[in-house]
Formats: sequence, C-alpha cells, structure tokens
Amino acid sequence: MAIERTFAMLKPGVLQRRLAGEILTRLEKKGFNIIALKQEKLSNKLAERHYAEHKGKDFYEPLLKYMTSSPVIMMILERENAIAALRKMAGPTDVNEAAPGTIRGDYGVITRHNLIHASDSMESAKREMNLFFSEDEITPFEDGNERWY
Ligand code: CMP
Repeated sequence: MAIERTFAMLKPGVLQRRLAGEILTRLEKKGFNIIALKQEKLSNKLAERHYAEHKGKDFYEPLLKYMTSSPVIMMILERENAIAALRKMAGPTDVNEAAPGTIRGDYGVITRHNLIHASDSMESAKREMNLFFSEDEITPFEDGNERWY
C-alpha cells in the first residue's frame, strides 16, 4: 500500500477537555508520523471555507460557532494508507454509531461537538492540507520503525 498524507483537526473540545496528549499518543502509536502540527483559533472565514460543502445544512451554523469557539490543533499525518486508517480510528460521525476503541466512540458525546476531523478522500486531504498549511510548515521524517507496523 502507498504512503499517504492526510489532514486531521482536533476540535475545540479536545483542548477544553485536556485530551490533546491522549489523542496524539494514540495517533503516534498507530504509526502516523506527525509531519506538520499547529494550534490556532480558527477565523470564521477559514471555518466557512473548510466546511463549505455543509453550507445550508441544519448543523452548519452551530458547527461554525463550535469550531471558532476555542483553539483547534491541526496536523498532517503520514503513513501507509493514511486516509482510510485515520478515518477508521476516528470512527463514524454519529457518536451513537461510533464503536468503543475509536476516538469518537471513546470520547464523543454529542455528534455536533465531535472531537476530530479526518479527511475523507485523497482529494479532500490535498485541499485541506493546502488550506491550513504551507509547504514550508511540513517536515517529513523517517523513524526507522516501519517494519514493526
Ligand atoms: P467533521 O468530520 O468535522 O465534518 C463535518 C462536521 O459536521 C462533522 O465532523 C460533525 O461535527 C458535523 N456534523 C456532520 N453531520 C452532522 C449531523 N448529522 N448532526 C450534527 N453535526 C453533524
């Protein structure tokens, strides 16, 4: 399988609930290389661009309000089959459907306030990486442990 990059965002509830370290640890343990990372309070404009496809849906305005309420942690993750692997770890959007063991299943209580965004395709990953990071913020590395994953 190919080495891929994907985009992830830990939403405002993560820092609020002091879960950042725990979630980053899970991602590292599952073999994702964190090759870009930053913390920022999203502007309304940026949140609107990120969630443009949901404009007009009933949860859109509350989603923007939540996403701009407090800082988020954004990252680019690299590993084999990264896009599908991260979606699997995140679990389904509906927290009631998310199984224990997934990030949404273990920590999420309200779908609207779920804790992680993960790109859903190669196309979205590219778009989201470009939206939130410039090329000079990305620092790939090799840890030499690939054979253990
Ligand atoms: P995310 O993966 O960031 O992508 C879109 C977000 O919209 C999603 O996570 C949820 O936070 C929110 N969302 C999607 N569907 C619903 C829904 N049916 N009800 C409430 N919020 C939703």
